[in-house]
Amino acid sequence: MEKKNLDWEHIGFNYHKTDYRYVAEYKDGVWGEGKLTGEADIVLNECANILQYSQQVFEGLKAYTTADGHIVTFRPDQNAKRMAGSARFMEMPAPSEEMFLEAVDQVVRANAAWVPPYGTGATLYLRPYLFGTNPVIGVKPASEFQFRLFCTPVGPYFRGGAKPLTLCVSDYDRAAPHGTGHVKASLNYAMSLHAYVEAHARGYDENLFLDAASRTMVEETGGANFVFVTKDGELVIPQSDSILPSITRRSLVEVARDYLGLTVTERPVSLAELPYFAEAGLCGTAAVISPVGKVVDHGREICFPSGMEKMGPVLQQVYDLLTGMQMGTVEAPAGWIRTIL
Ligand code: PLP
Ligand code: COI
Repeated sequence: MEKKNLDWEHIGFNYHKTDYRYVAEYKDGVWGEGKLTGEADIVLNECANILQYSQQVFEGLKAYTTADGHIVTFRPDQNAKRMAGSARFMEMPAPSEEMFLEAVDQVVRANAAWVPPYGTGATLYLRPYLFGTNPVIGVKPASEFQFRLFCTPVGPYFRGGAKPLTLCVSDYDRAAPHGTGHVKASLNYAMSLHAYVEAHARGYDENLFLDAASRTMVEETGGANFVFVTKDGELVIPQSDSILPSITRRSLVEVARDYLGLTVTERPVSLAELPYFAEAGLCGTAAVISPVGKVVDHGREICFPSGMEKMGPVLQQVYDLLTGMQMGTVEAPAGWIRTIL
């Protein structure tokens, strides 16, 4: 199979229209059979629930070309489970895990020419999503839905690549206590757009969102969880009911504990204690593990000792193991890697 003629090293984190996507429709209480289509545009009624009341949940995962030339995905069953949880909270019927995995497999196989080659730093990003399609004018859930999955080749999420990021403490909140912060609903991302534009206009890479109730605890950014390293080399993971349970974060916790023998603590983390950490990073499918060099809190600079040139040594070890598993150079725990081709 001949690969598409793209400049893989420089594609950035952008949408490319690939050849096939998966679509399945839910109607009269049942899911119809899913199929691949070449049509990327969607026609909807003007009053479709997604357009008026934002009933939508989504996922993000990647397909990787391994060192020995296979195409694999990383823990897609976890994405299927999280989508089911998000859908439940948003009053939507979720595709079964079997249907979700079938959609992943079919889309990756059909777009194999778009999977970036090993060693380019690029991967195939997969975006499963589920939304309400029938007209709803009173505020209530839809009764008809589409589950879709498209893919696009992507490079690093942050423009500087592996350069440490500078974040600002946001004056806006991303998620309310007892709200939707723990589910992957597009409405959470809509909430973050104004904060994102303001932060970028002021020269920051991302926002650090605080908990909305006390505005003292570290939550997450618009698209990734935090991970911190203490001066004693322990990993600290912020815990909160209003952040997304990142699959990357849950995986790196296991890697740090079981492969590196590190102590990992998951607990609420206050903004006040950031100056005492040695390293900080963002973790997620898109972010992978991206180092944070500096957090600016209304003019007060918190600079991590790992500096602004490269990732700190502990996070680097975790990064090497995790990406090694995804690229097939490090053996992963049983069940983490799904070989597609
Ligand atoms: N937090 C938010 C808000 C996200 O959008 C994402 C991305 O999916 C994550 C965290 C990281 O989650 P995961 O590692 O499952 O991709
Ligand atoms: C992901 O990492 O998959 C996300 O959904 C984050 C998004 C900001 C691209």
